[in-house]
Amino acid sequence: MELYDAMRTTPATRAFADEPIDDAVLYRMLDHARFAPSGGNRQGWRVIVLKDPAVRRRIRELYQLGWREYTAHIRVGLVPFAPREHGRWPGPAVDLAAARETPAPNEFADNLERAPVLLLLVADLGALACLDNGLDRQAFIGGGSIYPFGHNLLLAARNEGLGGVLTSVLARQEPAVRELLDIPEGHAIAGLLALGRPLKTVTKLRRAPVEDFTSVDRFDGPAFNP
Ligand SMILES: Cc1cc2nc3c(=O)[nH]c(=O)nc-3n(C[C@H](O)[C@H](O)[C@H](O)COP(=O)(O)O)c2cc1C
Repeated sequence: MELYDAMRTTPATRAFADEPIDDAVLYRMLDHARFAPSGGNRQGWRVIVLKDPAVRRRIRELYQLGWREYTAHIRVGLVPFAPREHGRWPGPAVDLAAARETPAPNEFADNLERAPVLLLLVADLGALACLDNGLDRQAFIGGGSIYPFGHNLLLAARNEGLGGVLTSVLARQEPAVRELLDIPEGHAIAGLLALGRPLKTVTKLRRAPVEDFTSVDRFDGPAFNP
């Protein structure tokens, strides 16, 4: 594919044909995705390919709990878990226990275990140079050493005629996932990728124009528009 085309037409795909993806194809995608950049080239990503039906079912249940917490925020107009007070998370903005008890039907979440490919993306925290640690705000730079790899996987999927989505709500249940999959201390869930053959083709993504997020010389300077 032409690179700009791929960049502009790789959506979050959440509905898949009931068709298995060959392990050789998945291997090829991983083999290309691994050329992603990371801080100090430490490549602190790990991928767990989830195949066992019982494990997939449990992952779906745990994902649904995270999804319920997420949607409880959306219902009251909040960005879920956003560090919104001086760049820090002030603690739960909704009753999380009540949220987990409240069903939030969702086609993707409720059928997660049926996704042709499920990959748990795990970060080796000890390999992440988190240069914003100790600043008086939420640290986030560490994720930058993992997510380019995740997006490379989505681009690789696109190149294979497949699609997928990188999700994060499973992180809400990290202790249970850690136990389920024997993930050692010092490692964190970065995401869960679902991949497969898309049921529909998306040609147009909704994104803000360049002028909306650029400025010249100062944060509040004029938009960059040559
Ligand atoms: C860091 C990150 C976390 C995300 N977490 C979830 C998630 O938990 N569940 C989900 O369905 N989509 C998740 N997404 C997908 C986004 O919702 C999606 O990329 C965005 O809405 C744009 O979708 P589009 O490319 O189809 O326009 C996540 C994406 C990113 C980059």
